[in-house]
Amino acid sequence: MRAPPPVVLHESAHPSALLAGARAALRRHEIPHALHYESDRQAALWQAVHRAHSPWIRDDRCRRFYQSALEAVSSRITGELGMLSLGCGTGEKDALLLEALSRNGTHVCYRAHDVSRALALESAARCQPLALEILPPVVAALPLDSSLRQVLLKGFPAGTPMLTLMFGLSPNFEPADFFDGVVCMAEIGPVLLSANLAHRVDYPAGVAAVLPQYDNPETRAWLMGTLTGLGLSAADGALIFHVSEPDTRLGVRGIDVRFVLSRARELTVLGERLQLAAGEALRVFYSYRYTAAIMGSCLQQHGLVLEQEWISPMADEGLFLVRKP
Ligand SMILES: C[S@@+](CC[C@H](N)C(=O)[O-])C[C@H]1O[C@@H](n2cnc3c(N)ncnc32)[C@H](O)[C@@H]1O
Repeated sequence: MRAPPPVVLHESAHPSALLAGARAALRRHEIPHALHYESDRQAALWQAVHRAHSPWIRDDRCRRFYQSALEAVSSRITGELGMLSLGCGTGEKDALLLEALSRNGTHVCYRAHDVSRALALESAARCQPLALEILPPVVAALPLDSSLRQVLLKGFPAGTPMLTLMFGLSPNFEPADFFDGVVCMAEIGPVLLSANLAHRVDYPAGVAAVLPQYDNPETRAWLMGTLTGLGLSAADGALIFHVSEPDTRLGVRGIDVRFVLSRARELTVLGERLQLAAGEALRVFYSYRYTAAIMGSCLQQHGLVLEQEWISPMADEGLFLVRKP
């Protein structure tokens, strides 16, 4: 077996940049998402959540949906392809698409990207036997901008059509940032993105129906892992899970998790002095849920064309292939 490729560490993932981002978020009383994944310990706790609660792992129908949708995506592609996976996680979905592409003879040059070095390496190792060529994984913190895009694209063969995968990212980014990222990548080729869907006609009730996927011991352990790393403890307050109000720009709702303090705490976190009063809350985590209609409208508002969509039989997952007009 070939040695795993070295990692490209982008400046956005340098300790000083992560620290600056984390301090800015803490000033807004928010826990930055990247902190939930970035250390090897947090990445391992997230994998425990993923194994216990992700429909991708727990529900055969979800895996079969991805298999057939990714097979359909692969049937649209021939020849050569550059594939960039943003926030690749463990890379299992990327591997499914690579398998389908290798069956139809497409030659793929693949790159994994994540803010977690451990996950980027895991994905690269998983996909290495399935791709013709594998580029060194990039460790970088999103959101995207054109300079990060340049780093992500460096090394792909010139002139090769590109496909960007954005699986599992729509829940964990503010909708405006997420769609700005899609627009940025769509400038160089189609983007295949996924969304977890609220699947009831009553949208808030549809979002509430997925609360048990979040309000559970594994997710609590994962999120408390981040908070204890910052100096808070279970004695300081409680995690509260609820359905958010619609976001102001695009009307998207999600699961929102706050840590509500039961006693005043004064602590210095990452060099930032935080004075927290009893009853105050930190926004710890959010996971946005779309409907196919809301996704369609967000894409349209960002000037993107929906080439094709695949909705799972349970209507709880969607894959959307989008491009610039
Ligand atoms: C829900 S997981 C999705 C993983 C995988 N793509 C999938 O669909 O199974 C979100 C991924 O995004 C990464 N991530 C979270 N915040 C990030 C950030 N600010 N920059 C880059 N990656 C981030 C996490 O490390 C994690 O691997």
